[in-house]
Amino acid sequence: MAAEKITDGIWSVGILNPNLRVFDIVMTTDYGTTYNSYLVKGSEKTALIECTHLSYFDRYLENIKKVCDPSEIDYLILNHTEPDHAGGVAKLLEANPNMEIIASQAGSIYIKGITNRTDLKLRVVKEGDSIDLGGKTLQFMIAPFLHWPDSMFTWVPEDKTVFSCDFLGSHYCEPFTFDYNVTYPEAYETAFKGYYDAIFGPFPAYVRKGLERLKALDIEYACTSHGPVLTKGNLLDYAMGKYAEWSAPKAAGPKDVPVFYCSAYGNTRQLAKKIAAGIRRALPDAKVDTFDIIKHPMPELAARLNGCDAFAIGSPTLNRDAVQPVWNLLSHVDAINSAKRPVVLFGSYGWSGEAAANLKARLEGLKMSLFEEPFRVVFVPSAEDLEKAEELGFRFGESLK
Ligand code: FEO
Repeated sequence: MAAEKITDGIWSVGILNPNLRVFDIVMTTDYGTTYNSYLVKGSEKTALIECTHLSYFDRYLENIKKVCDPSEIDYLILNHTEPDHAGGVAKLLEANPNMEIIASQAGSIYIKGITNRTDLKLRVVKEGDSIDLGGKTLQFMIAPFLHWPDSMFTWVPEDKTVFSCDFLGSHYCEPFTFDYNVTYPEAYETAFKGYYDAIFGPFPAYVRKGLERLKALDIEYACTSHGPVLTKGNLLDYAMGKYAEWSAPKAAGPKDVPVFYCSAYGNTRQLAKKIAAGIRRALPDAKVDTFDIIKHPMPELAARLNGCDAFAIGSPTLNRDAVQPVWNLLSHVDAINSAKRPVVLFGSYGWSGEAAANLKARLEGLKMSLFEEPFRVVFVPSAEDLEKAEELGFRFGESLK
């Protein structure tokens, strides 16, 4: 798609990537994505908001040229510096070496590392700073952890338009700019939720703050860095409502203490069941479900792990290590919010039993709070082993009171 006008003086000049299926190694993008960027022209000055992915730079420059000559751009506003947007900055500076780069304090540091340049014309902006383009004002709202440490929003009050960085964004691509043209709303909603979970799920308190700040504005257009432009009366209301719902503090209720395991011959499974029984004995009201990891969808297990109060996880030892599905589940841990989460480790082994030590190292790396030492059993658990497993679960449950 080429440049498209949003309001008088504001254009979308970003890039569509409908075929992308994996973003940043780990995020599936079943509906592709867009790398959004916007030109804002005042009577005196011109600003470009966000840049683009290096791979699509040439097409991007062509989009800009449909609105203005790149040499006319006075300011490059970096609402954040993630390389899918900031990766093209060094090349953009070849097209226009005179533009001033505007970023938050953290962004001003990161962009030096991304461009490998120390001679950038950089201006650091703080909360409440503004730039007058002539009839259009860029007002900067520092918004850390939405979703990078350097993130900020840019508000143009004259056009009731907010450039919200990744906030309210989605990896969703149709050949249209505006939300009211979305052809597959259910697909959009799926993409919107997946994006929230992956990008903003770890930062609910910051999301709530961000929402409050946006609610205080009378927004007509929310120009995100991915997905369609959201408009008042259309998907903007939906998006804000969903963010409020998903970021709401968890209601107090019974503790959630799942027990995850893999088991080739049923030995580790027996330990899992007994540990779960012990936890239930200590915490009769708690939600204590056991999950054979290979029998459940990974996103479901990951959501349960990241939302629980504490958990137990067990693996047999295979080739001197824990088994791959256990590692896979632990690779989904929300490391930002999992520090100090109590965890019990267990497993049966035959020869050497390295799984427990390897998992312990991983969980310590995640700064989780390991309860006692890993409980290991050689081959088939005896009646005494099973009793010990249940007692371990009971002590673990007691420790959570
Ligand atoms: Fe995809 Fe955080 O920009």
